[in-house]
Amino acid sequence: MLIAPDRDNLHKIVVLNPKGGSGKTTLATNIAACYATRGPAPTLVDCDPQGFSMRWLEKRPSHLPRIHGISACQEMVRSTGTVYVQTEPDTENLIIDMPAGISPDELFDVTYDAGSILIPVLPSDIDVFCASRFIAELLLVSQIDRRDCQLAVVPNRTRQNTKSYQMLMRFLTSLRIPIISVLRDTQNFVHAAAQGLGIHELPVHKTKKDVAQMELIIDWLDQRRMRRLDALISTHFEHLEGAPILTPLRGKDLR
Ligand SMILES: Nc1ncnc2c1ncn2[C@@H]1O[C@H](COP(=O)(O)OP(=O)(O)O)[C@@H](O)[C@H]1O
Ligand SMILES: [Mg+2]
Repeated sequence: MLIAPDRDNLHKIVVLNPKGGSGKTTLATNIAACYATRGPAPTLVDCDPQGFSMRWLEKRPSHLPRIHGISACQEMVRSTGTVYVQTEPDTENLIIDMPAGISPDELFDVTYDAGSILIPVLPSDIDVFCASRFIAELLLVSQIDRRDCQLAVVPNRTRQNTKSYQMLMRFLTSLRIPIISVLRDTQNFVHAAAQGLGIHELPVHKTKKDVAQMELIIDWLDQRRMRRLDALISTHFEHLEGAPILTPLRGKDLR
């Protein structure tokens, strides 16, 4: 179980898909790099025992904007299987990179207080099959309300004008879950991963299209964060309206 600090201004972003190789680490590290550039430093939590997000972070050049890293597998309290994630006080975005093949219990634990859940899906028959089963399970286990738009899908490694791309888009559209961006199949992601960079930190002329797609993801996440904060503020005021009016204490009452 992963326990994140219960802070109103902390946006917990979970990147999930039980199928390996779908692009979870690629998406999580690129989101972290985007937020690092904007600041304050985000926290990236690697829940995969293979530790590819942390490997990426170790390669990250020290002069680039900082990202806090937490290897959840190393910090796991073995007896209870619980990880208490300590974020820096200035962290606004907590990005969680999940491993392949998680149990329904783990799925519930990691998603129940998530602000946003992102699912990268590859254009292949097997990936679409796995994604359809997984999304059905997620909606059931985590009691996610589609209308709340907490969940979004990101088609990854796509090649337009291919049959598999069209099949993937037909499937994702039928789910009635937002498709917030489409990432193409490009070596830019591979090169960035090898150097501990986000694609926006590679030379601009090569990556314009990919950076634009990443920006769509960040815009969506920012909107989610603002909606969540607005909801918290209105709940807070509703409580205040119902609360009894307190008479201020005078000096003598304090003695
Ligand atoms: N859009 C993309 N274009 C090209 N290669 C990609 C893309 N997304 C991911 N990859 C590559 O695919 C492999 C698997 O991606 P990864 O993010 O590690 O998947 P996961 O974390 O879901 O197992 C990695 O080598 C990664 O660099
Ligand atoms: Mg991974």
